[in-house]
Amino acid sequence: MDQTLNPYTPGAGKPPPALVGREAELDAGRVVVARTARGTSATAPLFYGLRGVGKTVLLKALHAQAETAGWLTVEIEGKQEASEQQHTRRRLARGLVTAARATAGRRGTLSDAWKRALGTISSFSVAAGATGVELSLGVDPMRGRGDTGDPETDLEELVRDMVPALKESGIGLGVFVDEIQDLDPATLSALISVQHRAGQNGWPFHLYGAGLPNVPARLAEVRSYSERFHFVQIGALSDTDARAAFADPALQVGVEYEAAALDRLVQVSGGYPYFVQVFGDQAWRLAPGPQVITREDADVAVAEATAVLDDSLFHSRWNRATPAQKALMRAMAEDSGHSQISDLVARMGKRKPSDLSVTRDGLIKKGLIYAPDRGLLQFTVPHMDDYIRRQHET
Ligand SMILES: Nc1ncnc2c1ncn2[C@@H]1O[C@H](COP(=O)(O)OP(=O)(O)O)[C@@H](O)[C@H]1O
Ligand SMILES: [Mg+2]
Repeated sequence: MDQTLNPYTPGAGKPPPALVGREAELDAGRVVVARTARGTSATAPLFYGLRGVGKTVLLKALHAQAETAGWLTVEIEGKQEASEQQHTRRRLARGLVTAARATAGRRGTLSDAWKRALGTISSFSVAAGATGVELSLGVDPMRGRGDTGDPETDLEELVRDMVPALKESGIGLGVFVDEIQDLDPATLSALISVQHRAGQNGWPFHLYGAGLPNVPARLAEVRSYSERFHFVQIGALSDTDARAAFADPALQVGVEYEAAALDRLVQVSGGYPYFVQVFGDQAWRLAPGPQVITREDADVAVAEATAVLDDSLFHSRWNRATPAQKALMRAMAEDSGHSQISDLVARMGKRKPSDLSVTRDGLIKKGLIYAPDRGLLQFTVPHMDDYIRRQHET
């Protein structure tokens, strides 16, 4: 096929040619923006699900909705490395300054409410170690507001001082956190606490998030009032949506799939968006074309895409594990879907579940597995079990 027309977008966070099957989630986002404009309360969604289901692109889409509505928005990403975590608050502060400057810039003369908001943003940022911000905001920092050094107090003062300006302008303040399960506990706890307070007081502050299946449990662990959250599970696409995700972008540029080709690709992808993109991309690259992707093309693409996934998605994750962690994952790969810890104990010749605790916790921390329920374990990456089994055959 003509590579210049290849419509597929394999890659973490890459916006797909069409965001298929996510109308309900996009609508939920629109409701938050519309309610905020009316001054009524709303709860932003927190997306969770396996890797590669499209959480990041959804979060970005909701971010774009908020931006279009003129909101002040900040985007941060949770990181596993302790060194990176120390920078989170600074990134948050810097993001706020940039967003506030853009928002205030659009307003021309500043109202008193905006001057006060910018003053607190400025002192918050200075305290967070984001330098040079007084100059860039053009206001004096509001000393003594948002600068105690305690993340929770500072964030709350910051938001509290921004509320009049936000309300005056009919906009919200949106913090968008990807990989929220990896956000450092202090920052996460501060964000949740402020969200809680915002809900009680009708402040237009919204915490949006996306992360792995352990997100609801992780948030409950950090704060007890997480039941106020609007958790939305994101999964694989339905059969119809998966077909559309393969076929529609191709059809847009005049290329069709043979029915048998589409059947095969939909089946091997399992409807997981990341796999749809990788398989679609390989089919496009390998099919001689010029107008039809045949069943043989699909077969060749499946073999090639599998190799690509092994090298890119699976291999690096597998290599991140210690020998003991690999042994546990190997034992898990004997099940399809989730594994019972009791079975794993027996399979690995251990005596009791607690013999596996350290290994299990290590893998959860690395984001490779999660506990879908008490006594169960499952991979966070779809088809990881197939990969491990494949590796053993060769
Ligand atoms: N609704 C969708 N339809 C088709 N492709 C999608 C959809 N959502 C995401 N994708 C594709 O799936 C891949 C993974 O998306 P991403 O948002 O990074 O997933 P996650 O954050 O859940 O790991 C990307 O290549 C993206 O283009
Ligand atoms: Mg993601």
